[in-house]
Amino acid sequence: MNTIINNIEIIKTKTTKINDVDFGNLKFGHVFSDHMLECHFKDGKWQAPKVVPYQAISLDPSAKIFHYGQSVFEGMKAYKDANDDVWLFRPIDNFKRLNISSKRLAIPELPENYFMDGLKTLLQVDSEWIPKQDGSSLYIRPFVFASGNGFHASPADEYTFIIATAPSGSYFSGKVKVLIEEKYSRSANGGVGFAKAGGNYAGQFYPTQLAIDKGYQQVIWTDDNTHEYIEEAGAMNIFVRINDTLITGPTSDRILDGITRKSIIELAEAEGISVEVRKLTVQEVVSAAKDGSLKEMFGAGTAAVISPIAGFGYKDTDYDLPELDDTSYANSLKKRITDIQTNKAEDPFGWRYKV
Ligand code: PLP
Ligand code: COI
Repeated sequence: MNTIINNIEIIKTKTTKINDVDFGNLKFGHVFSDHMLECHFKDGKWQAPKVVPYQAISLDPSAKIFHYGQSVFEGMKAYKDANDDVWLFRPIDNFKRLNISSKRLAIPELPENYFMDGLKTLLQVDSEWIPKQDGSSLYIRPFVFASGNGFHASPADEYTFIIATAPSGSYFSGKVKVLIEEKYSRSANGGVGFAKAGGNYAGQFYPTQLAIDKGYQQVIWTDDNTHEYIEEAGAMNIFVRINDTLITGPTSDRILDGITRKSIIELAEAEGISVEVRKLTVQEVVSAAKDGSLKEMFGAGTAAVISPIAGFGYKDTDYDLPELDDTSYANSLKKRITDIQTNKAEDPFGWRYKV
């Protein structure tokens, strides 16, 4: 029999997959929980969402997602504490950003209660899937795509919103070396770089594969105009520590306004760290690497949390960064933010959200 929680109808799976999952050995985004939230836009409005068994989606070959890439997504995490309470981190910001992305892609915006009530209900139904192991969490992937049909290059008349979840371990394994990009761009002025649009990532795969072939894990994107300014990584915002100052670039229509980024800025300032949000040239980073004032570089994002960068390549030269101890900005800020996210520390900012 179907049940209803928070006004959301729930159709439960008859067979759980949870016993096949090795929770002590989780990769990132590789196994999926038993249920998903599904919601359709048709006849000019979003229909009530439902929690249904995780399952394949059937689409017409003319669905506009396939041809015109009308799709946006979000990345969030749910954490379970020692008392089995479940927490999200600044979820309203993800909801707002999903709608900001949707607006740019001419996708109809979602009502807040469908997103939040749907998410909470899904997490309640699949609460057994939220890992408790240190460093693991339930990665949450809300996404919206054009499921309406037709070859005409115009917005679809139907859309699908899904939230799927995956118990996950860390995003990167091992040291992260990055290549500072001099030729390709991920975004341009007036473009969609600030949106979490699916196509932004597709456009990065080829240059990133070239970097991987050279022994790097990730590309650091520079501005599309001059390639002189450090902007962000494929799935992370970038921070650089020169002497004792933490520097990150300003957001723009080319850069995603990361929730981890803005939280780190606030956390670092609260810890008395000098933070500068300003444009940062590649030359400044290279000079600092040469004279030893470049102490740290790290990426920040929901999936990657804070990922220290071990070294970078630029114009056929490799630069190594110092090994980090617990007093490094990367490691101490990572501990601060994960302690808040997992309810191990007080949350003076009011970021944590109880499910
Ligand atoms: N930049 C890009 C391009 C991303 O895909 C992400 C990940 O969501 C981030 C930055 C970090 O954003 P957030 O901290 O909100 O996850
Ligand atoms: C996230 O950090 O949640 C992201 O969306 C990055 C993703 C591309 C793996």
